[in-house]
Amino acid sequence: MTPEGSLLAAEGLRKAYGPTPALDGADFSIHPGEVVAVMGPSGSGKSTLLHCLAGIIRPDSGTVRYGPHTLTDLSDTHRSALRRTDFGFVFQFGQLVPELTCLENVALPLRLNATRRKAAEHRARDWLERLEVDDVAAKRPGEISGGQGQRVAVARALAPQPRVVFADEPTGALDSLNGERVLTLLTDAARDTSAAVVLVTHEARVAAYADREIVVRDGRVKDMAGRI
Ligand SMILES: Nc1ncnc2c1ncn2[C@@H]1O[C@H](COP(=O)(O)OP(=O)(O)OP(=O)(O)O)[C@@H](O)[C@H]1O
Ligand SMILES: [Mg+2]
Repeated sequence: MTPEGSLLAAEGLRKAYGPTPALDGADFSIHPGEVVAVMGPSGSGKSTLLHCLAGIIRPDSGTVRYGPHTLTDLSDTHRSALRRTDFGFVFQFGQLVPELTCLENVALPLRLNATRRKAAEHRARDWLERLEVDDVAAKRPGEISGGQGQRVAVARALAPQPRVVFADEPTGALDSLNGERVLTLLTDAARDTSAAVVLVTHEARVAAYADREIVVRDGRVKDMAGRI
């Protein structure tokens, strides 16, 4: 089990790429419904931390617990299944499937979780409306703007009602007004559904949307008071 009511908790994560340590004993935990901003300089290990927490990569050592599961001990198959049902992802680039319409993109994770087509498309449309991009439902990602694409990606991450949303610089490609709007929609929708959000960002302004901020420096996690 995770410590003291947390939903997801990591302890002593280490991950090296050749001689370069990307994570060097990182600890992290998040509660249900909590929004945590992950800050820190480029190359400090933010994305690596997020990928370890989400079970996308396996750390060299350390543990990640999610509810009753120890993610770091699960088989790849079991971890992918859990990712599909419980986690949502928003990345900076290349996240939508270019051959599918925006509606089909949002419906895709629902379909993968065995939701019937009609119901999946109905729910996908609701989420596109909520993110104020229902007007691009029938278009393909190549035919919409970067900001619209980010909103569609947020709709796709939230539609299956994940317990944890992982967002890595979700507004990196947007101007500040659009970026702020997308973040408000993301954090509001997450709070409405009690999803926890791990939000990697470079911008202090973005971190203002979080309940708590942490800083990653040289592969270790500090809270804002500077303690390790
Ligand atoms: N696949 C990889 N192969 C080799 N080295 C990697 C790989 N991914 C990350 N690294 C290295 O690990 C360290 C941490 O990288 P990471 O991507 O986690 O940083 P980051 O904090 O997300 O940076 P940014 O803010 O630029 O996205 C860096 O030194 C990086 O060069
Ligand atoms: Mg990164």
